[in-house]
Amino acid sequence: MEVVILSGADEIASLAADVFVALLSRKPDAVVGLATGSSPLGVYASLIERHSAGDVSFVGVKAFLLDEYVGLPAEHPQRYRSVIGEVIEQHVDFAPGAVRGPDGNAADLPAACARYEAAIAAAGGVDVQLLGIGTDGHVGFNEPGSSLSSRTRVKTLTSQTRADNARFFPAAADVPRHVLTQGLGTISDARHLLLVATGLGKAAAVRAMVEGPVSAFCPASVLQLHQHVTVLLDDDAASSLALGDYYRETYAHKPAWQGL
Ligand code: GLP
Repeated sequence: MEVVILSGADEIASLAADVFVALLSRKPDAVVGLATGSSPLGVYASLIERHSAGDVSFVGVKAFLLDEYVGLPAEHPQRYRSVIGEVIEQHVDFAPGAVRGPDGNAADLPAACARYEAAIAAAGGVDVQLLGIGTDGHVGFNEPGSSLSSRTRVKTLTSQTRADNARFFPAAADVPRHVLTQGLGTISDARHLLLVATGLGKAAAVRAMVEGPVSAFCPASVLQLHQHVTVLLDDDAASSLALGDYYRETYAHKPAWQGL
């Protein structure tokens, strides 16, 4: 796991966007994994700018979302499939149908989850998966207790996550209890995991993810088992790390040819 501590959200967004631009320049038909939440918004803004500048095209790219609320109507602004449309898809040149998410309105949710897994596999698997982290250590919507080898399935949100996400809804009670999420095993199949986190509110979860035991209690700790993980943090999100100085020193002396 490579931990990179940067000066702030802009630098994180720019470096994360670099990873996607480099991927799409060497593999124009890559498969990318997109995340919702506020953490990736800067990354999307940076990618939109790069696209406008002619530095990157998504025309041959397929994208898969991490997760979705169950039961939000198609026109609901907080449906993750709609959010991704607003924050990136509509502003770049994805081909029609290239961006997919799990179907939280399917009559048969387990069957929809199985179809989603099959679609990711048929696309050749995810090249770079963008991730945020919840304050309870969730990635996607894999709440504490999630099997480290789980696949796409229905999960029940913790009250902490529902409270965290209430800011996006008219009232806290409107946050759905149930979601579909790629499993930790599904996420771990991606070839490169790129997690971004900022702010003091994420410091404890980041510490547990990076330096705690690998445990279903902190689902993000499964990233410790992956061969290619990049964690981009600001000073606040990194503030509880025991080895913060070491991560800073390592990145400061990293040979440029290594890339991320
Ligand atoms: C949601 C999403 C996660 C995201 C997390 C953190 O629950 N399902 O993918 O990482 O929230 O969100 P934020 O980046 O807004 O803190």
